[in-house]
Amino acid sequence: MDAESASRFPAILDICFGPDRTSKIAYRFRDGVPPCDRFGLAAHAEEGMIGGIQYWPCRVAGVTARLLGPVAVLPAWRGRGAARALVNQSMDLVAEAGVDLVVLVGDAALYRQYGFYPASAQSLFIADENPERVQIRPLTPAGAAATGEVCTAQKVLA
Ligand SMILES: CC(C)(COP(=O)(O)OP(=O)(O)OC[C@H]1O[C@@H](n2cnc3c(N)ncnc32)[C@H](O)[C@@H]1OP(=O)(O)O)[C@@H](O)C(=O)NCCC(=O)NCCS
Repeated sequence: MDAESASRFPAILDICFGPDRTSKIAYRFRDGVPPCDRFGLAAHAEEGMIGGIQYWPCRVAGVTARLLGPVAVLPAWRGRGAARALVNQSMDLVAEAGVDLVVLVGDAALYRQYGFYPASAQSLFIADENPERVQIRPLTPAGAAATGEVCTAQKVLA
C-alpha cells in the first residue's frame, strides 16, 4: 500500500469498524510498529479509495509469520468482490515472499473461503484473544507445523 493510501485508510477503518477499533487486542500488534507495506493493497473507484488491506509483523517460534488485517470495504461498495480481490491478491504477495504462516483475528465464516482455519487446531494462540476468532493459513510445511503463542513484534524485541 502506498503512503497516500495508507494515510486515507484510517478514515475508512473508522467507518467500517467504529472509532473504538484501536482498543481491540489485534491493535497490540500494530501499536508502534509499521505495517508491512509490500503486502498491503488499496481498492479504488472513480471517487477515490473504497477499501484496503494491511498486514503487520508478528512472531511465532521457528517460522516467519504475518498478521492479516485490517481488511475493510466502504458499505456502498460491498458485495462486489472487492474484499475477495484484496485478500487473494495480497496473499499471493505474502506467499511469493516466502512467509510461512498468516494469522488473523476474525470470523471463521468469512475467512474459511480463503483457506484459513482455527489456530487452535494447531495449538497456536494469541494471548487474551478469543480462540474462536484466531484463524491461520499456513503457506509452507513449516507453517503447518508451527505451534505456540503468536507474539507481537514488540514482545519479541523487548
Ligand atoms: C467484510 C468485508 C471486508 C467484505 O467486503 P466485500 O467487498 O463486501 O466482500 P466480497 O464482496 O469480496 O465478498 C467475498 C465473499 O465473502 C462473503 N462475505 C462477505 N462478508 C462476509 C461476512 N461478514 N461473513 C461471511 N462471509 C462474508 C461474501 O458473501 C462473498 O462470498 P460469495 O461470493 O460466496 O457470496 C466488508 O463487509 C467490511 O468492510 N466489513 C466491515 C469490516 C470487517 O468486518 N472486516 C473484516 C474483519 S474480520
